Amino acid sequence: MDINSIRNDFPILGRKVNGKPLIYLDSGATAQKPECVIEAVNRLHREQNANIHRGVHRLSEEATELYEQARERVRTFIGAEQREEVIFTAGATASINTVAYAWGERFLHAGDNIIISEMEHHSNIVPWQLLAERKGAEIRVLPFEDSGRLMVERLDDLLDEHTRMVAVTQASNTLATRPELCPIIEKAHAAGAHVMVDGCQGVVHGGVDVTSLDCDFYAFSGHKLYGPTGIGVLYGKRELLEQMPPFLCGGDMVDRVSFAKTTYAPLPLKYEAGTANFIGAIGLGEAIEYLRGLDLVSIEAYERELTHYAEQQLQQIEGLRIYGTTEDKCSIISFNVEGVHHYDLGMILDKLGIAIRTGQHCAEPVMAHYGITGMCRASIAMYNTREEMDALFKGVERAVRMLR
Ligand code: ALA
Repeated sequence: MDINSIRNDFPILGRKVNGKPLIYLDSGATAQKPECVIEAVNRLHREQNANIHRGVHRLSEEATELYEQARERVRTFIGAEQREEVIFTAGATASINTVAYAWGERFLHAGDNIIISEMEHHSNIVPWQLLAERKGAEIRVLPFEDSGRLMVERLDDLLDEHTRMVAVTQASNTLATRPELCPIIEKAHAAGAHVMVDGCQGVVHGGVDVTSLDCDFYAFSGHKLYGPTGIGVLYGKRELLEQMPPFLCGGDMVDRVSFAKTTYAPLPLKYEAGTANFIGAIGLGEAIEYLRGLDLVSIEAYERELTHYAEQQLQQIEGLRIYGTTEDKCSIISFNVEGVHHYDLGMILDKLGIAIRTGQHCAEPVMAHYGITGMCRASIAMYNTREEMDALFKGVERAVRMLR
């Protein structure tokens, strides 16, 4: 694997921040974009911009063809069996809200319950809470241990004949935990419940095969997978999507419209109301093609090795605690240093050109678990290097000396 060649594909990595070479360790929040994605988006705006599914003219046909090609690229990448099961949305948040609303309308009733893991991102908590409030359903929480391990064995105590949904992440954006999804999905299905998997971090670090995983719904965002912002994917099993009502309504999602009665377009358009972000979708398709040209197994091993190396170094710093220490964690390091506020540490690192995320990481229940207000988070991608891990260590050491 040639990291320098990968780095050269990402123009932003050449820039300076505060006079220092950028060290970008915030890919968990949004990943940088390779030249081919930037170029595809530019080319579309310059040469091929026209609304999809709506014109007989050449530009519209070209854009439509590229959009549907992007859907096919996503379908293959996540292992979905049918194109009808791949829906473009504005992002993972929109994907999960679509399921919470449309699935909830059809499948959730008063007295039912939804199980959510304690380590979920807010976007896999709040839509379920609102749904539960609307329907008179109960939210149950599957806890994690201090190490970050999700206590899958507790699922047996939570599941019952009224459980309709289990919402769980493939990889925690804060603790880096990869919960054991197979037993969760098997147990949920045995109890008659469906499973929503948040794949935002998981699809980037290791990928997914939704068919063998057998989850009912899977969501991810394009911008974390080296694609554009404002585009995401909802995978859903066709038989469920067919039974659910539409969510957003308007153009492109209808079959016939009259004041007497409206019928809906077949999947996947039923869930793609309005002018889709077709340029974003095509850009995401380019990002996927880019990734398919790389050895993803080696990349994942490389990211893990960097994470392990960085953690070993950081642990030398007195009073530094890493949150999330499971064996097969993905390449995210969340930490705090005793006596140092995470914001202060993040700001000093920024002065050194190092970008990390600080705060609650949209996972306030995780902060509540540890009784803290926030954390620092370094999230590592394929374009990061060992030298950058050294710089992170030295930067944290220096910041801690200044702040203590
Ligand atoms: N959900 C994104 C993160 O984890 C923004 O940082």
